[in-house]
Amino acid sequence: MNKTTVLTGITTTGTPHLGNYVGAIRPAIEASRLADIQSYFFLADFHALIKCHEPQRVAESRREIAATWLALGLDTDQAVFYRQSDIPEIPELTWLLTCVAAKGLMNRAHAYKAAVQENLDAGDRDPDAGIQMGLYSYPILMAADILMFKANKVPVGRDQIQHIEMARDIGQRFNHIFQGDYFTLPEAVVDDRVAVLNGLDGRKMSKSYNNTIPLFEPEKKLRKLINKIKTNSLEPGEPKQTEGCTLFQIYSAFASAAEVEQMRQRYAEGIAWGEMKKELFEYLNAQLQGPRETYERLMQDPGYVESVLLKGADKARAQATPFLETLKAAVGLGRFI
Ligand code: TRP
Repeated sequence: MNKTTVLTGITTTGTPHLGNYVGAIRPAIEASRLADIQSYFFLADFHALIKCHEPQRVAESRREIAATWLALGLDTDQAVFYRQSDIPEIPELTWLLTCVAAKGLMNRAHAYKAAVQENLDAGDRDPDAGIQMGLYSYPILMAADILMFKANKVPVGRDQIQHIEMARDIGQRFNHIFQGDYFTLPEAVVDDRVAVLNGLDGRKMSKSYNNTIPLFEPEKKLRKLINKIKTNSLEPGEPKQTEGCTLFQIYSAFASAAEVEQMRQRYAEGIAWGEMKKELFEYLNAQLQGPRETYERLMQDPGYVESVLLKGADKARAQATPFLETLKAAVGLGRFI
C-alpha cells in the first residue's frame, strides 16, 4: 500500500493545554492509527531555542510534551516519535537548504516581518534590533524537518501555512538546481472541523494570553480553573445562549453529539453557571483521569520516556542518514570512492 506521510512538529516551550489537545494532539493520534498513513511526530526542540533562552523551561517542556503524547496512547510502533535534536542530519540538511533558499523569501516570513514591524513601531532606527538569525532562518529549519522525511501532508495551524509554502519553494529550488526529484513537495493541512477552544477569559486558549487550562492539571486544580472560566451574569433559571459560551464550547469538544444536544436543552431551560461548571469538571475529569495517571507515572520515569524517544530517533535516522548521503552527493559532497 502506498502510504501518505503525515508529519508535524511541536515546539517545546510550554505545557500542553486543552486547546492543544483538541486542536492538534487528539486528531494527530487518531490519524496515526489509520492503516494508510505513516505519521512522524517530533519535539521541535531546536525551534524552541528561537523563542526561549531558558534551559529549564525547554527541558521541562520536552519532558511534558513527550509524556503527554505517550499518555494519550500514541502508538510508537506505528508512528515515528522523536526529538528533532536527536537527528543531526536535520541541521546538516538545513545548511544545504540555506544555500539555495532566497534571502528575499526569508524577508517575507510573517514571524520575521512582525518582529521588524515592532521595532519600526517603537521608533527604533534599526529594524533588526534584537532579532536573531534563528528567527530569520526559522522557515529553513522547518523546511528541513519536512523535506527530510518526504512528508506529503503537514497538519498545522493557520499561522504556519506560509512556512509549508516556503518548504515547497525551497525543495523545488533544490530539485531544480541539482536536477533531480530529491524532495517531495509537502502540503499544509488545516482542519477547520477541529475545535479551536477558548480560554479562561473567553479569548482563544493560548499560552501567550496566559488563559490556558493545562491538560493534566491535578484534579483539584482542574476544578479551580474551570470555576474561573468567565461567564455572564445571568441567574439560574434564565435561558442561556450556547453560542459564544466557553463552558459549552469546551464541553462540546469532548462530549458526544447526543450529550451536546441534551446540554443545549439544559441551557434553554436555564442551567445555573455553577451547575454547568460542575458538569464540565466532572465530564472532563472522567475522561482525563486515566491518561493523567499514566502521565504522572511517565513523568516519574524519564528513563522509559528517553528510551522510547531514542528508539524513535533510530527509526528516523534509518531514513535520514542514507537520504542525507544522497543529498550531499547531489551537491558535490559525496565520498571520493
Ligand atoms: N513551527 C511549528 C510551530 O510553531 C513547529 C514545527 C517545527 C513544525 N517544525 C515543523 C510543524 C515541521 C510542522 C512541520 O507550530
